[in-house]
Amino acid sequence: MLILGIETSCDETAAALVRDGTVLSNVISSQIDLHARFGGVVPEIASRAHVETIGYVIREAFDAARRVPSQIDGIAVSARYGLIGSLIVGVSAAKSLAYALGVPLVGTHHIEGHIFAPMLSHPGVPLPHVCLTVSGGHTMLVYVQEPCRYQVLGNTLDDAAGEAFDKIAKFLDMGFPGGPAIDRLSLQGSRTAFDLPRPMTRGRSLDFSFSGLKTCVVNMFRGKPPESIPLADVAASFQEAVVDVLVSKAVQAAERKGVAAITVTGGVSANRRLQEAFRQKCGRLGLAVFFPLADLHTDNAAMVAAAGAARLARGERSGLDLNAVASAPLEGLP
Ligand code: KG4
Ligand code: ZN
Repeated sequence: MLILGIETSCDETAAALVRDGTVLSNVISSQIDLHARFGGVVPEIASRAHVETIGYVIREAFDAARRVPSQIDGIAVSARYGLIGSLIVGVSAAKSLAYALGVPLVGTHHIEGHIFAPMLSHPGVPLPHVCLTVSGGHTMLVYVQEPCRYQVLGNTLDDAAGEAFDKIAKFLDMGFPGGPAIDRLSLQGSRTAFDLPRPMTRGRSLDFSFSGLKTCVVNMFRGKPPESIPLADVAASFQEAVVDVLVSKAVQAAERKGVAAITVTGGVSANRRLQEAFRQKCGRLGLAVFFPLADLHTDNAAMVAAAGAARLARGERSGLDLNAVASAPLEGLP
């Protein structure tokens, strides 16, 4: 099946063509430059930029794959979970094309897309497995029994891990988005320079909380002259605290569910120290760990096409009354 995927849930306008698990094109138009001066994504600017870009991005996805619209067998779109104004743009584009081309349409959950990214990257990912999906909008541990069958094991109670990266970077004037900036800067810093808390790692809960860690860093340096703050050490110590929490909870989840593999996905999964720490810990425990290939960590439409292909193959279809929903649970999908 040749599937067109469309993704506009936050600040990336993306379209991709995927045929039977092979990515033929994966076009991502990032809005980072539009939001950078605000230090975060501005929803109204995001949705307007999606409207301006979506047509070009879809056309580019066809051109890059050397395919034409009449060749596709279906369309998948991120319809649930994200900024409502942004989601609506992708959903409207997907419905219009599905109607015009007379092909089946399926609306997917944004996080389900992220769950598919490691499976799309590595066809050998075993099932069941535990997936840690971690980005600017969510931090979630999911038991993936089989494609499209999930059990959420843990969720963030406040800030997502990527959001904490972004807020710390904004506070310390390191740039936007904060994750890549902290990732780079921490290479020159000491991971043990500051003794920071590892929130919620003592009990059995698989939920996360990063807001206290963020406040702890802010309180340490609020009001201090910027030149007196050892930025690289703060970045490395903060990153290490987040990484410790993510790795220890994902491993706990894998052990509790008795699975042999963990997948890590979402924007933060590109973090080099996170990947290193997972490889070390999982290597010691005999667990396999998988990350998405480049361009599939962050928001993209190839992962949406992969998730949609699985749902279309099960006979699922969305009608032309498909609507965007900003906040929707992952479990209990049709
Ligand atoms: O998955 P994504 O593109 O969008 C959401 O669904 O949120 O993730 C974006 C998030 C941002 O918070 C960004 O700072 C973070 O992923 N991020 C990173 C890295 N690259 C992106 N965080 C830590 N290290 C990185 N290398
Ligand atoms: Zn995402």
